[in-house]
Amino acid sequence: MKKCFGRILAKPQNLLDLRSRLPQPVALQMNILFLNGPNLNLLGQREPEIYGSTTLSDIETQVRKRAKVLKTDVTFRQSNQEGELVSWIQEAKGNFDVIVLNAAAYTHTSIALRDAIVAAGVPTIEIHLSNIHAREEFRHRSVIASVCRGQIAGFGANSYILGLEAAYNVKV
Ligand code: DQA
Repeated sequence: MKKCFGRILAKPQNLLDLRSRLPQPVALQMNILFLNGPNLNLLGQREPEIYGSTTLSDIETQVRKRAKVLKTDVTFRQSNQEGELVSWIQEAKGNFDVIVLNAAAYTHTSIALRDAIVAAGVPTIEIHLSNIHAREEFRHRSVIASVCRGQIAGFGANSYILGLEAAYNVKV
């Protein structure tokens, strides 16, 4: 039998050493879409005893501050039009990792938003400033809740920060 005296260059240990010296894959930045429904443009002046005195633009600033720490990319939008919200949810597919949605009054009525969430297949987190379950009965029902990953309600402007944290930790 022929004897082989060659040197073993790549023992398993050597391979591991080599791998640690190669450029490591860079974690991709998460893209989170915040969508706000009707009348949320009036935050700060609209029923402050329920929604607080913080404006939507103040909330956006707070969310961006936290997003910077988490190294996530945030897009913030508001519309009073149901169809526009539907289009944004559809367009989120392939462009955003997670949607954080305060659908406002459409939460309680919009099968179109619900269908869009299902069709887009982008993990969606439902948020509300107020605790909808402690308010009028018609607000207790959310037609989008069962197609969302979860619901955050009742923490005022902080619901948005909690929504961001939930989005950041969601299993995509
Ligand atoms: C809301 C609760 C809804 O019932 C209401 O219609 C809103 C705001 C909230 O953030 O508490 O407009 O979504």
